[in-house]
Amino acid sequence: MIIYHRQDYIYLLCIICSSLMLLTSIINIIYIVQRSILNKTNQYTQISMSNIYLNNRTNNSEEISQKQNDYFEETYKIFMKSSIHNYFSRIENRNLSLNYCPPIPPNLQGALRIHEVPKNFSITTNSSYHIDVQLGGFYQPINCLARHKVAIIVPYRDRWDILTHFLFHTHEILQRQQLDYRIYVCEQAFNKTFNKGIVMNGCFKEILKLEPNTHCFIMHDVDLLLTDDRNMYTCPRYPRHLSVAIDKFHFYLPYAQLVGGVLAMRREHYLLVNGYSTNYWGWGGEDDDMHARIISKNLKVERPPASIARYKMLKHTHQKLNPARMNVLRTARSRIDSDGLNNVKYKLLNTTFYHLYTHFIIDVGEQPK
Ligand code: BGC
Repeated sequence: MIIYHRQDYIYLLCIICSSLMLLTSIINIIYIVQRSILNKTNQYTQISMSNIYLNNRTNNSEEISQKQNDYFEETYKIFMKSSIHNYFSRIENRNLSLNYCPPIPPNLQGALRIHEVPKNFSITTNSSYHIDVQLGGFYQPINCLARHKVAIIVPYRDRWDILTHFLFHTHEILQRQQLDYRIYVCEQAFNKTFNKGIVMNGCFKEILKLEPNTHCFIMHDVDLLLTDDRNMYTCPRYPRHLSVAIDKFHFYLPYAQLVGGVLAMRREHYLLVNGYSTNYWGWGGEDDDMHARIISKNLKVERPPASIARYKMLKHTHQKLNPARMNVLRTARSRIDSDGLNNVKYKLLNTTFYHLYTHFIIDVGEQPK
């Protein structure tokens, strides 16, 4: 029989205490490491474009471009890390005998209501909204293999509230449509004349560098909210004009050649028509030119039924349409192969992966005199 002395008990107590202290320190170390990783991610999601964009006020362009490069490398590394992490965590969660998602997504709701944006909603940082969306506004269904790899291209300038509403509303729909998608907000830098064609072509090229297997591109005006999720954001065999019935136009298509608003195109079709023309400075015309390109290349424009291709246009101050666009439009067909993707000049100033979108800032250069 073992007889314990008082001294032994004290000794035992000491051992227990020091083990507890050791355990607490290990937990603390794990916590600190975790915090520093999180901080790094937050730091990167929260740095707004102002860091680089507004710094352009300085004249030291070398310094700016060095900063931009460093910044891009940093965000790209984190993006890659997060993509790899997402990829593996998804693979782990995936059933090995994963099937394609059904051709008709089972959870569509049909006609939708537009909800107000909650006060605590943020498009840049992780919040309790859209929790399944991955960094950079990216999503893949978890329980099935998506049939479509889609890039949503949103040309943008200076409409923060509208962009916020658009992202709040649209992510849920795309998830219910069971797409593998990413939303790209393509912002024209500086206060120069807007050139939507250059912004979209630049964005298209950059997307193919980031996600080369994207095969479906949806060019989407930021002020349009889809109000029926049966209007699928996919790319059928012909370019498909999705915004057929907009409340602002009393749910009628204003004219048969209109492909502005929301347009879905396969990658090969975008390449075939040489993308958008780069000759439309100011508002309007580039979409009418795109229609001419599609028809000239013996493609057709499809449209879903107006009963489901319905949109609400968010209120904002509309820019005046550029009256000179009609003159440029006259020569649309003759310019297809010389004006577009193959001669577009732009500078990508910055890429940031925010919570609900990937942000490109694009300098389109000066309007020729
Ligand atoms: C413009 C288009 C625009 C349409 C609808 C046309 O006059 O050229 O760019 O999409 O009006 O607003």
